[in-house]
Amino acid sequence: FESKTEKGISWTVVSPIVFTYKVTESRGLLDPSNDTLLLGHITDSQQLEDLKKSTEPIKRFVVIDQEVYKIYGAKLTEYLETNNVLYKILALPTTEENKSMEMVLNIVEEVNSFSLDRRTEPIIAIGGGVCLDIVGLAASLYRRRTPYIRVPTTLLAYIDASIGAKTGVNFANCKNKLGAYIPPVASFLDLSFIKTVPRRHISNGLAEMLKMALMKHRGLFEILEEQGHMLLDTKFQADNSAYGNNCLQTASQATYIAITTMLEELAPNLWEDDLNRLVDFGHLISPALEMKVLPSLLHGEAVNIDMSYMVYVSKESGYLTEEEKQRIINCMVELELPVWHEACTMELIQRSLQDRLKHSGGLVRMPLPMGLGQSIFNETSCEILHRAHEKWCDE
Ligand SMILES: NC(=O)c1ccc[n+]([C@@H]2O[C@H](COP(=O)([O-])OP(=O)(O)OC[C@H]3O[C@@H](n4cnc5c(N)ncnc54)[C@H](O)[C@@H]3O)[C@@H](O)[C@H]2O)c1
Ligand SMILES: [Zn+2]
Repeated sequence: FESKTEKGISWTVVSPIVFTYKVTESRGLLDPSNDTLLLGHITDSQQLEDLKKSTEPIKRFVVIDQEVYKIYGAKLTEYLETNNVLYKILALPTTEENKSMEMVLNIVEEVNSFSLDRRTEPIIAIGGGVCLDIVGLAASLYRRRTPYIRVPTTLLAYIDASIGAKTGVNFANCKNKLGAYIPPVASFLDLSFIKTVPRRHISNGLAEMLKMALMKHRGLFEILEEQGHMLLDTKFQADNSAYGNNCLQTASQATYIAITTMLEELAPNLWEDDLNRLVDFGHLISPALEMKVLPSLLHGEAVNIDMSYMVYVSKESGYLTEEEKQRIINCMVELELPVWHEACTMELIQRSLQDRLKHSGGLVRMPLPMGLGQSIFNETSCEILHRAHEKWCDE
């Protein structure tokens, strides 16, 4: 709409943008008879029918984590060949240290020479959170917004990095400093990828699951507390003689709760305009910690150290009993996650919370666990932060 002043005319543009995307679980994504990976993102039934009838080959550009390619590359190639796809597979060392603009440019150059139809040929990303974040940003930049599909292959990516809208790379020694809020057209989740994930990376994913449990789901906390070790041993796979026959059911239940609670938080706040974000739990101090000691801590490990400290803050603030605090820390240890780190100093904590401090006059507003499975946005004083840090280090 238009308004006039003495200085001239001013136009105000209001442009509501709606994103619709699907997060779909599908077993056997690389089974040649499963067409989810190629067609699962299409929502228009007429378009889907036309495509299925067409004799034109489908064209797809696939970026895959190099390590994942070593394990699943042959299967992926067979899948694309059998389905008569015109394809290019780009296998890249998508590690945290390589999570940079350079790799984004590398990808868009390859995409450019492959020449995709920007409307109908989504880029497919297959890998852990690092790969999905880099490819998502590359796709969002290429021709201003090329659709992309996420296929998570780690537990962390399965329950977290693949279901929201955020993409990004590290920049100026800061985590995810360059990025966009552009969701994929679809995420396809296949739990069977997790069976080859190294044990330490299963723990890593369990940390993000524990985050959702502590913030809003007591039932999930109890599953992790009682069965977390089993999930770690069985890697979220089918029944195992040592544990009887409920392994897969428990694994599905845990991932289901983690995903639904996460989506509930993300969907109404896709661009994170609202600062009261439960999903920030574990993510206020950890970005600086993770970058400071890179590559020694994995993302989820840094998140867990942050959460562990916050549990002490919560206890000092009167939101957790000593027993609840102990149960949470024990659960973390049982999940084989680190609960303390020498690099997590008071100075680093204060520096990380600086932004939040600046806007709130000495009090830091942040999510804290209150009991097991509930949370509160608390205004914490510096004195409590200090006291909690001292106790945390002592214990
Ligand atoms: N976009 C988001 O909303 C969001 C959310 C959470 C985390 N993240 C980002 O995700 C990243 C962490 O993701 P990650 O933990 O998946 O790490 P990652 O992508 O580095 O993968 C972990 C390791 O596992 C290997 N791997 C992946 N899949 C495998 C498989 N199926 N079998 C064997 N090995 C496999 C990889 O090669 C890598 O060495 C961080 O950079 C973090 O910032 C993003
Ligand atoms: Zn995270």
